[in-house]
Amino acid sequence: MKSAIAGCGSIAQLHSRVLTDWIDTALVGAADIDARKAKAHAETWHTNAYTSLEDMLRQEKPDVLHICTPHYLHVPMAEYALAQGIHVFMEKPPVISRAQLHSLENAVRNSSARLGLCYQNRYNPSIREARNILASGRAGKILGARGIVTWHRDSAYYTDSTWRGRLATEGGGALINQAVHTLDLLQYLLGQPSAVEASIANHHLKNIIEVEDTMEAYIQFEGNINASFYATTAYCDDVPPLIEIACEHMKIRIEDLELTLFYPDGRQEKPVLEHREALGKSYWGTGHRDCISDFYRALQTGEEFPLNLSAMTPSIRLMLGAYESARTGQVIQCLPET
Ligand SMILES: NC(=O)c1ccc[n+]([C@@H]2O[C@H](COP(=O)([O-])OP(=O)(O)OC[C@H]3O[C@@H](n4cnc5c(N)ncnc54)[C@H](O)[C@@H]3O)[C@@H](O)[C@H]2O)c1
Repeated sequence: MKSAIAGCGSIAQLHSRVLTDWIDTALVGAADIDARKAKAHAETWHTNAYTSLEDMLRQEKPDVLHICTPHYLHVPMAEYALAQGIHVFMEKPPVISRAQLHSLENAVRNSSARLGLCYQNRYNPSIREARNILASGRAGKILGARGIVTWHRDSAYYTDSTWRGRLATEGGGALINQAVHTLDLLQYLLGQPSAVEASIANHHLKNIIEVEDTMEAYIQFEGNINASFYATTAYCDDVPPLIEIACEHMKIRIEDLELTLFYPDGRQEKPVLEHREALGKSYWGTGHRDCISDFYRALQTGEEFPLNLSAMTPSIRLMLGAYESARTGQVIQCLPET
């Protein structure tokens, strides 16, 4: 197989490492509009540099394109590649608007190629084990849940970037960029969201960014389960996001790769989990390798890749619904469109 990468920034390093060290594919090209970044990436990962996606695809004819560019470019780049029958593995977030979601659905429907979405934290052993415990019935009925992300992003994080901090290019702030994994994991663990009510604020970077640095949301899931969600980048540190599922027989608490079970009699249990090497920042999790490997395995075997667009749509619609609620002040319904 032949693979290529669009966008040679931070996360592209990790994709390139996974492709080089663990996947049976040749990295044939890396494209970035910044020629210096494209050249540096090509030198590090022994591939060909391009300053245009179009030139790279025409020249190299890859089987798979990895999209590691700013948020607003994900859908147009995916559409362009899918229309040529090139498989796409795309970084989060898949879309920044409902209009983009509809365009992407059309592009997938009309292509012979496949789209995989990088929500790698679904592969974290802590999340897998939590899913197993919930599915086994051991925990009993789910009573409620919470998700909390308290991180730090300073003004330089935004002012040093060409695309962060602006609605048109980032699509949002603390939720769509930092806390989207935690929101997704709540959805993965709790099932189909039915409604969301949310509000946003900009507490610490007023006049610097037009996106939110804080979001809170009250999410209703099918089965009469409610979740409280809070995400901010106005804290002083990056501490592990917390996900807690309160159940009849235990509380399941996940902090990044740690899983703790709290029993009503005061006992605590930490299931032994197999850990992988973290390839990047600790809060990126350890799942990129597993997630990307699983996508290539699915391409080779013809099996379904679990993080495809239709499987991820409840999570994507929950994210878009939270923003819509914050904009309109309304409770937004999240059940599938009929
Ligand atoms: N899954 C995760 O945990 C995770 C972690 C970090 C970043 N990400 C996502 O990865 C994506 C990239 O983030 P990043 O931190 O690497 O950003 P970055 O700014 O470091 O890199 C983006 C790169 O894209 C390039 N670019 C911009 N326009 C382009 C174009 N038209 N053609 C080609 N290249 C272009 C930029 O020059 C830049 O080098 C974002 O969607 C981000 O949300 C995901």
